[in-house]
Amino acid sequence: MASSTAVRKIQSKSQESKIMPGSRVFEVDHPLIRLHLTRLRDKTTSTSLFRQSVRRLATLLAYEATKDLVVKTTRVQTPLAETDGVDLSQRVGLVPILRAGLGMVDPVLDLLPSAEVWHLGLYRDEATAKPVRYYDKLPAQHPVDLAVVLDPMLATGGSAMAALMTLREWGVQRVKVASLIASREGIDEVSAQFPETQIYVCQIDPILNENKFIVPGLGDAGDRIFNTGDQG
Ligand code: PRP
Repeated sequence: MASSTAVRKIQSKSQESKIMPGSRVFEVDHPLIRLHLTRLRDKTTSTSLFRQSVRRLATLLAYEATKDLVVKTTRVQTPLAETDGVDLSQRVGLVPILRAGLGMVDPVLDLLPSAEVWHLGLYRDEATAKPVRYYDKLPAQHPVDLAVVLDPMLATGGSAMAALMTLREWGVQRVKVASLIASREGIDEVSAQFPETQIYVCQIDPILNENKFIVPGLGDAGDRIFNTGDQG
């Protein structure tokens, strides 16, 4: 099921998300997201500020992506009285795609301290732009109830789809993808191949160039987070 390119604002109280009709793609629209995304895009942004901006955006995106987390009621004793509280009733797994996804783990763990973290190593072959799998830490059994794939970039969508296939084989019932930036082409491909997967992004850019880089984009997130490579 390909997503439509038409965009409408969700009629919610906060009106913070845009949903593509017929798909499960959420482009989260918020002034703070636009602000910190501008820092990421800026080629003069230092490594330190780049990392900090990734953390801030990951927090904002995770807040949105976890709105439908399933919780159970508990009781809690305050210094003054006993009252209702909640606890998570699902096993949640964060699945960062190495390397760049590592930059999103800690801020999401701050919000979800009980989450499990399962690493997947994928890099994009420079010649073919196809994902190459080099590390997989998933155990054979007992998958989490909800997995959230973390990767700052979704370009062709190949890496995200390789991760989604792995999680499907592991038996995860529900999977979400959280990416800071995506291409329209990649989003359409992932949502066509995995229509049941919710995808949360800060912004969808229009162009995937001949080298399969997102334009205008932000360059290579992994290199900018870890201060490696030619970032020109
Ligand atoms: C980048 C990015 C995604 C992938 C996106 O990783 O972090 O994982 O490319 O491209 P795709 O949607 O076309 O698959 P990269 O291969 O640069 O590896 P790195 O994170 O180790 O730098």
